[in-house]
Amino acid sequence: MKGSFEVGSVEETWALARAFAAELKPGDVVCLEGDLGAGKTTFVQGLAAALGVKGRVTSPTFCIVQEHRGAACFLVHMDLYRLAGEDDVLAIGWEDYLAEGAVLAVEWPERAGSLIPPDAHHIRFLHAGEEKRKVAIDAASQNKI
Ligand SMILES: Nc1ncnc2c1ncn2[C@@H]1O[C@H](COP(=O)(O)OP(=O)(O)O)[C@@H](O)[C@H]1O
Ligand SMILES: [Mg+2]
Repeated sequence: MKGSFEVGSVEETWALARAFAAELKPGDVVCLEGDLGAGKTTFVQGLAAALGVKGRVTSPTFCIVQEHRGAACFLVHMDLYRLAGEDDVLAIGWEDYLAEGAVLAVEWPERAGSLIPPDAHHIRFLHAGEEKRKVAIDAASQNKI
C-alpha cells in the first residue's frame, strides 16, 4: 500500500493504519518518521487495533520499548529517541524481537542505522493543519509530500 494520504482526524489516521496493517507479516519493520505530534504513536494505535492487540498504546518515549501481544500477532513499539545508536538498539533486544517474528513499529528509526532492513516500510508524517496530517507510505522519495 504505497502512496500519499491526507487524513483529517485521529479516526482517519487509525483507519489508514488498519488498512496498512492488512499487509504486515511477522518480522516486518515499520519506520515512523516525522516531528513530535505528527501522529506516529496515533498510527501505532491503529496498527494495534487491527492486529488484535488489547490494551492501550501510549508513547514509549520513556520506557523505549513496549510489547503488545495480540492473539495472532506480537507488536513491538519502540521509540529510539533517547538511544545513542546501534549498540543501544541491539541492547534492547532488537534481534531477539525479529527472531521471534514480531512486527516492529519504530519511532526515531534513524538511531537504528544499518539495523533497519532494506525492505522495511517507511511512513512519514507531516503536519498539515490542526487535525490534518499528510502520511506518505513507502513513497519513492520521502521528501516529496
Ligand atoms: N489526523 C490526526 N492524526 C494523528 N494525530 C492527530 C490528528 N489530528 C490531531 N492529532 C493529535 O496530534 C497528536 C499526535 O500525537 P502522537 O501520535 O503522539 O504523535 P508522535 O508520536 O508523532 O509524537 C495527538 O495529540 C492527536 O490527538
Ligand atoms: Mg510518539
